[in-house]
Amino acid sequence: MSKVIIFGGTGFIGLSLANHIKEKGLNPVLIARNKPNPTIDHEFRRWDAISIGNWIDDLNDAKAIVNLTGKTVDCIKTPDNCDLILRSRVDSTKLIGRAFKEVANPPKIWIQMSTAHIYGDPPSQICNEESSTGYGLAPFVGKAWEEAFLQSIPPGVRGVRLRTSFVIGKNGGALKKPKTDYQVRVRRKSWRW
Ligand SMILES: NC(=O)c1ccc[n+]([C@@H]2O[C@H](COP(=O)([O-])OP(=O)(O)OC[C@H]3O[C@@H](n4cnc5c(N)ncnc54)[C@H](OP(=O)(O)O)[C@@H]3O)[C@@H](O)[C@H]2O)c1
Repeated sequence: MSKVIIFGGTGFIGLSLANHIKEKGLNPVLIARNKPNPTIDHEFRRWDAISIGNWIDDLNDAKAIVNLTGKTVDCIKTPDNCDLILRSRVDSTKLIGRAFKEVANPPKIWIQMSTAHIYGDPPSQICNEESSTGYGLAPFVGKAWEEAFLQSIPPGVRGVRLRTSFVIGKNGGALKKPKTDYQVRVRRKSWRW
């Protein structure tokens, strides 16, 4: 069965995608730092998201990879958190690019998460691929993330950038944790996007 490797596949989007991929007759392999809940029966490989490990073997002969890795942005935007939001995305993307070069038969498709927030928060403009990127933390991270992807994807591999907006679902996502007034007040005092 053809393998699809999902980096950062143990989170909200990754697990939903893995279930869908399995229904389509493919074999999803989840890669993350922490083992998912034991009720999840997809194949799992551990990595540290900064160095090559045994997980690289799964890239050989895989059909595609999807990279969803990244520290959640649902946190107070302290300088340390902002740093980790950036590094977890950029460094993991560069690492995957290095891994591609080390396997004999790497996947021909690399689907890379990005963010619709790369456009910032224009109040009324409808954005598309031709629109300029915005100002602030999210556009800064989004641009660095996409730049790392474009520099890392090997020639001949089909690359797809997903400029995804809020994802909601029955089992989590942006609707799971409605913000209390207290959290909103704290965030207003923190370093915002
Ligand atoms: N959900 C949305 O509305 C939305 C919208 C647009 C874009 N996105 C992007 O889509 C991706 C997946 O979103 P999601 O909602 O599924 O996120 P999630 O549930 O928070 O899952 C994040 C995944 O990344 C890994 N991860 C977390 N922190 C990490 C770190 N510091 N270093 C390396 N790996 C780390 C997690 O596993 P481990 O911690 O075990 O490694 C997990 O597999 C993220 O990059 C997010 O920015 C999400």
